[in-house]
Amino acid sequence: MNKPSILVARAIFPEVLQSLAQVFEVESNQADEVWSAAELTRRMQGKVGALTTGSERIDTALLQANPQLRIVANMAVGFNNFDVPAMTAAGVVASNTPDVLTETTADFGFALLMATARRITESEHFLRAGQWTKWSYDMFAGAEVHGSTIGIIGMGRIGQGIARRAAHGFGMNVIYHNRSRLSAELEAECKASYVSKEELLKTADHVVLVVPYSAESHHTIGAAELAQMKSTATLVNIARGGIVDDAALAKALAARQIAAAGIDVFEGEPSVHPGLLKVPNVVLTPHIASATIKTRRAMAQLAADNLMEFFTKGQAVTPLNTVAGRTA
Ligand code: GLV
Repeated sequence: MNKPSILVARAIFPEVLQSLAQVFEVESNQADEVWSAAELTRRMQGKVGALTTGSERIDTALLQANPQLRIVANMAVGFNNFDVPAMTAAGVVASNTPDVLTETTADFGFALLMATARRITESEHFLRAGQWTKWSYDMFAGAEVHGSTIGIIGMGRIGQGIARRAAHGFGMNVIYHNRSRLSAELEAECKASYVSKEELLKTADHVVLVVPYSAESHHTIGAAELAQMKSTATLVNIARGGIVDDAALAKALAARQIAAAGIDVFEGEPSVHPGLLKVPNVVLTPHIASATIKTRRAMAQLAADNLMEFFTKGQAVTPLNTVAGRTA
């Protein structure tokens, strides 16, 4: 029997590719070229499954041009590159990679918070530039982390991981805002108190964004919200580009309306707003919150398992939608 054909749209671990090749006819992209929408649509021709990353958009135009497609497995927990309602309507299963990256991403959120509050990259640039000629009492004095108040917007699995680190590791006061309130049990475990977004912005020393991207969460933090924050506060975005209005943030940082920011995700990435590149009080990283070898391997394997289980057992492991009447 012919193996089903799939597309692996970006470079992945060779061993994961090999395991896929046991079950599928695989077209891969180990050169890791970034394809245009037209090229992706063309490469999808004849494929019944695909493994994508957050960079490939699956929309109505691609689905209409590929009526044979049955499943697209995203190697990411976020899936705003998928038009899930359009996929469901087209009978295409969508899947993502939850859980396997939770703790690693929470570690990174905390690392970015620490680097931002304690001005680590700014001081390293100063040292590398040969500007360190003497010690002085307020040199790169930053904001306190332990014992301060952290405000987490988006209290899903990753937000909760950050809350646990903050409360149990750093004795921080944890406040959070979320679409829905956590159970009393989870709030106790995270030592977290639910507050309005406004109260969070006004009282937090460190605001951390972990909310999924959607039309409703677009520009969760813009000029008005930045104006509500303390002038000594830091802002950390490990959620998605578009959750923060990057132009407004660059302006607020330049004006020292807030003290500093740590940003891993950008509007229009891999482009970065030029205003952010100019200001010293921001730590910038290229969307690497889940980037450890162990976790990226687990994400790739889970995406591959979604494809393999769908075609061998009729059910993806971590589907995002229910596709009526479709089995492999
Ligand atoms: C990374 O940003 C992810 O969504 O997994």
